[in-house]
Amino acid sequence: MNIEYTEHAGLFHLSNNAVSYIIKLLENGQLGHVYFGRRLMGHPDFNHRNERMHRTISTYPFENDTSFSLEHILQEFPAYGTSDFRMPALEIQQENGSLITSFVYSRHRIYQGKPALPQLPATYGNEPDDVMTLEIHLEDELIQTEAVLYYSIFRNYAAIARSAKIINHGTQPLNLTAIMSMSFDLPDSDYEMVHFSGAWARERGKVLRHLAPGIQSVGSLRGHSSHQHNPFFILKRPFTTEHSGEALGISLLYSGNFLAQVEVDPHCTSRVMIGIHPAQFCWHLKPGEAFQTPEALLCITENGLNSLSQTFHGLYRNHLLRGYWKHRAKPILLNSWEAAYFNFTEASILSMAKTAYDCGIELFVLDDGWFGNRNNDKTSLGDWFPNYNKLPDGIRGLSKKIHEIGLLFGLWIEPEMISRESELFHKHPDWLIQTPGRTPCHGRNQYVLDFSREEVRENIFRQIDALLSNAEIDYLKWDMNRSITDCFSASLPSFRQQEVFHRYILGVYNLYEQLLDKYPRLLIESCSGGGGRFDPGMLYYAPQGWISDNTDAIDRLVIQYNTSMGYPLCCMGSHVSSSPNHQAGRATPLDTRANVAYFGTFGYELDFTKLTDLERKKIREQVVFMKKYQNLIHTGLFYRLLDPQENNRIAAWMTVSEDGTQALVAYYRMLNEVNAPYRTLKLCGLEEKKLYRITPGNLTCYGDELMYAGLIISDNSCGRVFDNSLKTYDFYSKIFILEQV
Ligand code: GLA
Repeated sequence: MNIEYTEHAGLFHLSNNAVSYIIKLLENGQLGHVYFGRRLMGHPDFNHRNERMHRTISTYPFENDTSFSLEHILQEFPAYGTSDFRMPALEIQQENGSLITSFVYSRHRIYQGKPALPQLPATYGNEPDDVMTLEIHLEDELIQTEAVLYYSIFRNYAAIARSAKIINHGTQPLNLTAIMSMSFDLPDSDYEMVHFSGAWARERGKVLRHLAPGIQSVGSLRGHSSHQHNPFFILKRPFTTEHSGEALGISLLYSGNFLAQVEVDPHCTSRVMIGIHPAQFCWHLKPGEAFQTPEALLCITENGLNSLSQTFHGLYRNHLLRGYWKHRAKPILLNSWEAAYFNFTEASILSMAKTAYDCGIELFVLDDGWFGNRNNDKTSLGDWFPNYNKLPDGIRGLSKKIHEIGLLFGLWIEPEMISRESELFHKHPDWLIQTPGRTPCHGRNQYVLDFSREEVRENIFRQIDALLSNAEIDYLKWDMNRSITDCFSASLPSFRQQEVFHRYILGVYNLYEQLLDKYPRLLIESCSGGGGRFDPGMLYYAPQGWISDNTDAIDRLVIQYNTSMGYPLCCMGSHVSSSPNHQAGRATPLDTRANVAYFGTFGYELDFTKLTDLERKKIREQVVFMKKYQNLIHTGLFYRLLDPQENNRIAAWMTVSEDGTQALVAYYRMLNEVNAPYRTLKLCGLEEKKLYRITPGNLTCYGDELMYAGLIISDNSCGRVFDNSLKTYDFYSKIFILEQV
């Protein structure tokens, strides 16, 4: 890993064994983008890559020079209006109304390590030599403003982390009307953009479109990263597959409004950017003030989407997740939501917990309905004290009793919300996010608390702190069940109203930080009506997240497959729920429900007291299985083998231990087939010359055979008997265990 500056050429070259990222100072002092890709040896100046074309009908900053137009030059952090007409990474409105800026190089710093970002999530190095940082300082002399661009390169990953900071050193206040976390221009546009879009209960559908001239973008203006789009996208070559070809992955470590965009110009260059959505955003920067953007991560591969995912998985696991739970096995849980909804008593909870304990469960989570007068979703958000009608000994008593049973205890909260029917609302009707003189929109019968206000956060902190310090709580599920409308904060002056969305998210991060500071062993699972705020920003605080309210195993195959594109399995909340499923109405075998849920943080969400003896026995076995293989699933290398969206609704994936000695292969067939074709599955990541024993069955094969000839998975439906005990049916699945002998 190295960052080299060649002064005579104005050249910055960040590299590690895998990649190079090259930046060059342009003739006008701005930053040009030269290259991001597989590692290059380098060149003394790369001047020849400064392609300059005399294109007609352009505009040019230099007298008598019609070769230099920013319209046609690959740039790093462009501004609009000085011969570039594409979307800018930065736009600053000045006192005289001008939006024109010109940031030119002033100095740079290169150092080991990586600075934390104030109030924001960010990747970090564990050892001093894990990561190196380049800071490039640019200056706009006229407005005495500095832009600092941060580039960090990791020793072991084909990845660059970027962010930007603006500092107003001048005497006039400025309005930042757009500031992306990163931007760069690619020399061509022969890419497909893959983004992850959907809705409640069908989050992260995979959408693929070939780049076309003009702008293509996804984003959120809902106040949270959203069910609709995820702050993560991929640019892949048309022929890139899971296991071969070039691809770039870009993600934003942020949980609020975002924009992820590619603009293709008429000469087929592509401007790639990600950051806070400039719509509904304007940050007022007084003299002496600074603004720091969230961090963007850029990962790159030549070996297909799967290897890109592995880079994200490794980076997040080692350099984003933090604290006590970072490398610890997550407790296998039972959540009460689909088991009881609002309908429970202490006795019913305790009998569920006892049965769960008998089945090997480690953590009992009491979901919604335990506080205030909460018997439906119309009341009590904001009143974080127990409902003594349901829980006569309160949360303190219940948590003790759950601990006595032998389980950890977890609790659901939705701290950012308020119900009209609540004590908090009666005391503080003005704490809502709402616009003066207008009736605020409701969502799930609730309103959003103004988390940009410290007093509001302080009240909620005190309430949660009282719970955590009085009761024995090991885990919190932190939910957020509606988008933000009527965005306005009563505590801010008019010229700061466009800051509310960002200040809100900073407030959320701040409360997370306060709680984790005081309770460092608390495990927090983030949630937002399922996967409405499942993003890398959240993972910095909550090492697991509920990825969807859809718990149907068959729908989950697609959701989990796609989520794994950018997120590691150890943070993907996945539960076995009852059959027929409460969202999809589909009946699926208990085995298949578990075979899907294993590939995430494992748990259950059904009424254990209603299980048959046989189901209980099976669940006991499932829990034993998960405890045995949890480490392999959460820390192994994950390979997607068959995409259920493309392969006749058959899915397969596998995870291989880092030392290659153990693997789990999972195969799922949605609908049964009669007289189906023979089928083999080409495995990945094994050691070619090592023998593997495959269970079930008593076959032993070399790694090379399993990878290049494939594991035979034909079954009775093919008319060929691989395993006599095998019956096939709809929603069939099977897990193979591979162990080196
Ligand atoms: C959201 C969550 C669910 C559950 C309910 C409770 O929808 O995603 O898992 O916690 O809220 O109201």
